[in-house]
Amino acid sequence: MTARAWADTVPIEPYLLVIFGATGDLTRRKLLPSYYRLLRRRNFADVGKVLGVATRDLTDAEYRKLATEALVNAGIDGDEAARWCEEHLAYQPVAAGFGALAERIREIEGDGGLVGNRVFYLALPPTVFGDTVEGLGSVGLHRSSGWTRLVVEKPFGRDLESAKRLNGLIHRWFDESQIFRIDHYLGKETVQNLLAFRFANTLFESVWNRDRVEAVQITVAESLGIEGRAAYFEKAGIIRDIVQNHALQVLSLVAMEAPVRLEASSIRDEKVKVLRAIYPLAADRVVRGRYTRGRIDDVTVSGYLEEEGVAADSTTETYAALRFEIDNWRWKGVPFVVRAGKRLPRKLTQVAVSFHEPPVCLFDTDEACQVHANVLYITLQPDEGFDLAFDVKQPGEGFVLRTRTLHFRYADVFGELPGAYETLLADILCGDQTLFVRADEVEEAWRILAPVLDLPEAPEDYPAGSWGPPSADRLTGGSGWLVP
Ligand SMILES: NC(=O)c1ccc[n+]([C@@H]2O[C@H](COP(=O)([O-])OP(=O)(O)OC[C@H]3O[C@@H](n4cnc5c(N)ncnc54)[C@H](OP(=O)(O)O)[C@@H]3O)[C@@H](O)[C@H]2O)c1
Repeated sequence: MTARAWADTVPIEPYLLVIFGATGDLTRRKLLPSYYRLLRRRNFADVGKVLGVATRDLTDAEYRKLATEALVNAGIDGDEAARWCEEHLAYQPVAAGFGALAERIREIEGDGGLVGNRVFYLALPPTVFGDTVEGLGSVGLHRSSGWTRLVVEKPFGRDLESAKRLNGLIHRWFDESQIFRIDHYLGKETVQNLLAFRFANTLFESVWNRDRVEAVQITVAESLGIEGRAAYFEKAGIIRDIVQNHALQVLSLVAMEAPVRLEASSIRDEKVKVLRAIYPLAADRVVRGRYTRGRIDDVTVSGYLEEEGVAADSTTETYAALRFEIDNWRWKGVPFVVRAGKRLPRKLTQVAVSFHEPPVCLFDTDEACQVHANVLYITLQPDEGFDLAFDVKQPGEGFVLRTRTLHFRYADVFGELPGAYETLLADILCGDQTLFVRADEVEEAWRILAPVLDLPEAPEDYPAGSWGPPSADRLTGGSGWLVP
């Protein structure tokens, strides 16, 4: 049974969801609306309460008002939202201390007839992850008479050392079976579908290896810039922000062996084996870029160095192309090239798998062989779907080849897909860890990227609205970037 089927059909036990960072951007824009939609999908057959925790000194009523506004902004009816918030939400300022928090939790559980099942969701600035976990542990909130789960948002550390430290600190109080590290990409239907595509269909499995695959390219492109988040992005850069988590998670799902069973530990075992088979990246396997002023959708946008809060001598990259090699029997010698960037021409997350060209070319012209490699494009967002490119003979005299594609689009068949946070919240409440990142996965990803995290050189310029610095093309081994 897949994680999604599990989440939709299994009744959720009574619980208390404690959200640290209850007034923040993530909670208001994503968590509360997704949680509400999840409950609505399940006909409000919910048995849970929510306790918001943040630094400001709010009353329950003030917090309910803030939460109602967040739900209304997400398109939910105001009366319905206000009623639900009144019945389900409470608030506790963190300044009251963890002892008072424990007391408040017991009070809500007593009043609501809850049985001690608790989720602590850390939607917090990463700088306070550690203190919050310590606070919970110090007053015994890491255990209860029911189950206790800890959800940790990304970023999980900023390098191998800090990730190990954070894992160590969390493991002092919580064991791995209680920890849900979020990479919201894993909640996307299309990312989960990589598993279905690979392991429910035998057609591709027999060609999914070094004998048939020439190269794999993974693109995670955004047309947006840093959207006023210079304070965060200056310290992160695109390698920390996107490659360490989303891109390497997608790479693992594309490259992993079939799990023994479709459950969390088997799947995560196979994903981490892929990461273990990748050597730390040499600096010559990376091209870093930084956008300059340019045009996207006919609008002129500023360069990175012109953005408010960016240092004049910044060396932060807004683009990176990286060439990974997986040193195992299936993939030895096949480049996995990842590119991720901001201010690229359009939003696109896509995996392109190109297959070898035929060993002999029967269809040559005077100048060159006309045959093109077959390419499978898996588009994870937007316009989710698959495209398989192959050559056909153009009708008429002679042999003139044309590349055409078979298409499949989710929207044509399934309509709107559920949001990633809806999926992830359901799985947290059901206790299914399949779509969450294990401690060893996080650490392996940081290990691979360690040599290229803080390179001192300024990144190469690329104009906003282009696909990044042209020098990144060399990482594709001459085939160029594949886009359908
Ligand atoms: N925003 C997104 O779209 C997004 C996407 C992916 C991941 N994330 C991750 O989610 C986390 C939160 O991001 P955000 O954008 O929501 O940040 P944010 O808007 O700055 O909100 C931070 C929240 O944390 C609260 N807070 C700060 N220190 C606290 C403490 N010691 N104890 C309890 N609450 C405390 C703040 O309370 P006050 O408001 O009362 O000060 C506020 O509610 C970060 O780890 C971020 O990387 C965010």
